Amino acid sequence: MAAQIINGFELAKEKRTQLAKEVEQLKQQGIEPALAVILVGDHPASQSYVKAKQKACEEIGIRSILLTFPSDISEEFLLEQIARLNEDRSVHGILVQLPLPKQMNELHIIEAIAPEKDVDGFHPLNIGRMMTGQKTFLPCTPYGILYMVQSLQVDIAGKHVVVVGRSNIVGKPVGQLFLREHATVTYCHSRTNDLAAITRQADILIVAVGKPKLITSPYVKEGAIVIDVGVNRLESGKLCGDVDFDDVKEVASYITPVPKGVGPMTITMLLHNTIQAARELHK
Ligand code: GUN
Repeated sequence: MAAQIINGFELAKEKRTQLAKEVEQLKQQGIEPALAVILVGDHPASQSYVKAKQKACEEIGIRSILLTFPSDISEEFLLEQIARLNEDRSVHGILVQLPLPKQMNELHIIEAIAPEKDVDGFHPLNIGRMMTGQKTFLPCTPYGILYMVQSLQVDIAGKHVVVVGRSNIVGKPVGQLFLREHATVTYCHSRTNDLAAITRQADILIVAVGKPKLITSPYVKEGAIVIDVGVNRLESGKLCGDVDFDDVKEVASYITPVPKGVGPMTITMLLHNTIQAARELHK
């Protein structure tokens, strides 16, 4: 039987309706949640992600502040901008869109963001808090994935979650989040021997590598839940994931599409984190 499609777009819409109410409540207390987004350079994908984040903020009543800079600014200049936003009491969330130009050390930049405004959840302090099960900002894509899987009402405890990809933004943290939910987690990456032998063991397969249609049906166990984080643009201009959707949907029980799968959930969790930051900063 063909898999059920997890509609990230619809799930995101429902969650955003609830978040809009939370923003309204904060405004009644005199708090206007605000997110500052910094975009350096003219990376086309980054430009469209940032635009989508701004639009999503505005739709639910979060104030969005966009700072754009040319790609040749110095690291020192960017650090000054972040320091200014850290001090600004009317700003609750700060996000520096990645990747940054080569002359900058991304870790230096991320570490400069005040942890209490780090709504991406990328600051090492917040990553440490996540890994040790403390309250913190959870990184948006992993958090969105967990939210999607939880929406299926499946018991995550004891399940074998296989993560393909080990990026700091998605692969590493998503494994940790499922570990927190008592899953057994295996990480695979570009050096993994016999990838299919491992991915075929997955009850929940999460793929975040940026390789169009890497995962085909022989990589997937019958009945597995398949989450595709990849967003790849084909020569035709069409978007496609890291999973061969048409092939894999014949063996999986649930599968996320690209687009309208994980992407809308990522932005939704950013909104959630910004509201959380506003609430905490005004306590
Ligand atoms: N680049 C790709 N994904 C992300 C994200 O979630 N946050 C930031 N800041 N940059 C990204």
